[in-house]
Amino acid sequence: MARETPVCDEDVFGSEAVRNARAVDDRLRETAPAVKISRENITLVGRYEEVSKGLQDYRTFSSRSRPWHDPSSVRPEILLVDDPPKHTRVRNVIASALTPRTLTRMASAFEADADALMRRVKEKSGEPIDAVGEITRAFVDKVLPDLLGLPKWGRENLSPFGHMVWATLGPQNELYREAMENVGPVLEWVDQCCNRENLDPQGLGMQMFIGADQGLITHDEAKLLVQVLLSAAADTTVMTMATAIRAFCLFPEQYALLRSQPELLRNAFEESLRWDSPSRMAGRITTREVELQGYRIPEGGGQPRSAQVERSRPLRHPPRPQGPRRLGLRAACLRRARARAARGRCAARGLHPPHRAVRAGRRARAVDVRDRARAGAAAGAHPSGRTLKLPATQESSACRT
Ligand code: HEM
Repeated sequence: MARETPVCDEDVFGSEAVRNARAVDDRLRETAPAVKISRENITLVGRYEEVSKGLQDYRTFSSRSRPWHDPSSVRPEILLVDDPPKHTRVRNVIASALTPRTLTRMASAFEADADALMRRVKEKSGEPIDAVGEITRAFVDKVLPDLLGLPKWGRENLSPFGHMVWATLGPQNELYREAMENVGPVLEWVDQCCNRENLDPQGLGMQMFIGADQGLITHDEAKLLVQVLLSAAADTTVMTMATAIRAFCLFPEQYALLRSQPELLRNAFEESLRWDSPSRMAGRITTREVELQGYRIPEGGGQPRSAQVERSRPLRHPPRPQGPRRLGLRAACLRRARARAARGRCAARGLHPPHRAVRAGRRARAVDVRDRARAGAAAGAHPSGRTLKLPATQESSACRT
């Protein structure tokens, strides 16, 4: 028999909720398998089992639309708004471009840039460092446009663009409006720099046009793919690295462990995603009425899932004697709900094969970021990509639990 879906009247997408995302999301997940968010008229599904099944059932939980989907928004209308077979056809072009040879070449370029950045950071030894501005954003703003083969001009627009696209994943609230400032010049740059004639022939971006030459996708789709790579790769990476630095500042014994065992770097990456995900929510649209554990979601009801709420499900995470809110590199990695479905899975997973992680882990042995990054990493990154000072309660709860 269908049960009444619990209703949440709070604003779970405003600045305050974003600052306290862990507590908000944990509460929503524990309430019920499905919770209606009345302000947005969507249903939130936050538990591993239901999210996992939903991601594999695109006929019911479709990507073709999402909560707050606006086809005329700044977000490139490709992949994230596609279901198979189009999704499969388009995604294959990215997958074919990321060959082992290409990945090895990229890894060498990343390493050279990381070494140069670390040399600069070490020169500031003893001074406070803004971990987002001086490490993670600085790194991504250099390597990402290089990876795609974008021209040198206008690269300062990269962050605002990522910030805007990220904001379209939520409601049009104050965070959205803040992100959309100066939208004209930013979009003008995106439009120009992703044109074929402006791309480096050796870059990943050009591979999309080569796919179009081979008839796998259209030339318009190729340009959209370059744009989607540009937006999908920016803030996710900036925030994931910032979160990891922040976690190491809060749990220095885990950083010491990583430095003594660089082969744990892959675990550190996965564990930092579990500990605090940069991708808090994503959405699908229900193509028919669905019943989840007796709770009804109407046709057309949004199904945002929260990546964060997946993190402390006891059945999916190995026992953590010190609790789910502590970082634990030795615990086996989380099995993310999206792992088995290509749709809903990051297209850039190949950028992190284990052998590369080990090499990068050796760099962690050489650099002790704890003291230098402490000040900057105390600021959390939020989905708009800007750094926010965390309220004392959240920080201390992370340490205490
Ligand atoms: C740590 C960094 C990253 C994280 C945590 C991350 C996470 C994700 C997630 C959760 C999705 C699925 C979204 C959904 O279906 O609603 C996704 C999709 C995607 N990501 Fe990433 N991502 C990261 C880095 C990157 C990078 C570096 C690139 C490109 C070079 C990239 C390109 C993409 C693309 C193209 C998609 C769409 C895939 C599809 O729909 O098939 N991501 N990412």
